[in-house]
Amino acid sequence: MNMAPTTPAPVGHIGILTSGGDAPGMNAAIRAVVRTAHYYGMQVSGIMEGYKGLVQDAIRPLGVRDVSNIIQRGGTILRSARSKAFLTAEGRAAAKRNMELHGMDALVVIGGDGTFKGASVFHQEHGVPVIGITGTIDNDINGTDTTIGFDTATNTAMELVDRIRDTASSHDRLFFVEVMGRTAGAIALHCGVAAGAEFVMVPERKQGIDELIGALERAAKTKSSVIVIVAEGDEEGGAYDVARKVKARFSHYDTRVSVLGHVQRGGNPTVADRLLASRSGVMAVEALRAGGKNLMVGQLNGTMMLTPFEEVIGKAKPLEADLLRILGILSI
Ligand code: F6P
Repeated sequence: MNMAPTTPAPVGHIGILTSGGDAPGMNAAIRAVVRTAHYYGMQVSGIMEGYKGLVQDAIRPLGVRDVSNIIQRGGTILRSARSKAFLTAEGRAAAKRNMELHGMDALVVIGGDGTFKGASVFHQEHGVPVIGITGTIDNDINGTDTTIGFDTATNTAMELVDRIRDTASSHDRLFFVEVMGRTAGAIALHCGVAAGAEFVMVPERKQGIDELIGALERAAKTKSSVIVIVAEGDEEGGAYDVARKVKARFSHYDTRVSVLGHVQRGGNPTVADRLLASRSGVMAVEALRAGGKNLMVGQLNGTMMLTPFEEVIGKAKPLEADLLRILGILSI
C-alpha cells in the first residue's frame, strides 16, 4: 500500500513546565511562550512543579494576562521540582493520559540536561512533540553559548565578590569564594575574570593545590588582597576544603571563606537573560507550529538555533578555555 507523505498534525494546545533548579529568566520564557501561542491562536496550559504536575494532573490554563508583570521576576510562577514518578514508564503513561485529558498536544519544557532527557524519553515513548528551552544558571548545556539564568547568576556572584574585595583589601586577607555550577565551572570562570580574581578553580581543568600555591606566592609579594574563586564541583573540594589545604601549607595567611550559595539563583533577570528568554519562547512556539519536535532552542554565535535533543543531552560543554588564559594574564 502506498502511504501518502504525512504532514504533522497542527499543534493547537501547548503545555508548559519548568523543571530542575529554578533560574532567573524562566518567568520571562514562560511569558514569551504563552504570549506567542496566543498570538498564533493556540491554547496554553501551565503545568505546576515540572513533570510532577504532569503526572499528578496539576494543570491550569494560562491566558495572556496570566503572565503579566512576570518578565522582571526571578524564580518560576509554575514552580519547579524533580519528579521520581516521571522516571518510570507508569509515571510517563499517566502524564500522557493527563495531556489527553486536557487536550494538550505538545510540550515546551524549560530546564537543563535532566529536563531534556525526560522530554526525549517521553517523546520516544508517546510521540509527544517537545521543544526544550534552556533554563539553568550553570551554563552547562551544549548547543547554546549561554543558558537562561547564567548571566544573572554570574552578575550576582560578581557583585558579591566585589564586596568581598572591599573588605579583603582593607585587611590584607586571602578569600576563598565558592560559587555554584554543579559539575561546571562556567560561573566561577566568568565571575572570576569579571571580578578580577587572582585564581579560579574549575572542575574542567585539573590545577591542583600546587599550582594555586604558586599563584598565591606570587600574589602575596605585591598584592594587599587575594581572591580565589572555587567552583563547587572542583576536584579539590569546595572553598572550605581548598582553604584548609592551603592553610596547612601556609599558616601565615589570614584566610576567610565565603560560600555564596542560593543567592545566585534568585533576583531579577538581567537584560541578556530576559532577551534570551523572550527569543527562546517565540522560537519554541514557532518551531512547534512548523512541526518541530525533540529540539532544543539555543543561541550560537548570536543566532537563535534549534538543535536535536540527542546532540545536546549528556554532552559535556567545554569551558571557554581562552578565558582561563586571559585570567592568568590579567591577574599578575
Ligand atoms: O543546577 C543549578 C544549581 O543551582 C547548581 O548550581 C547547584 O549545584 C544545584 O542547583 C543546587 O541544587 P539545590 O537547589 O537542589 O540545592
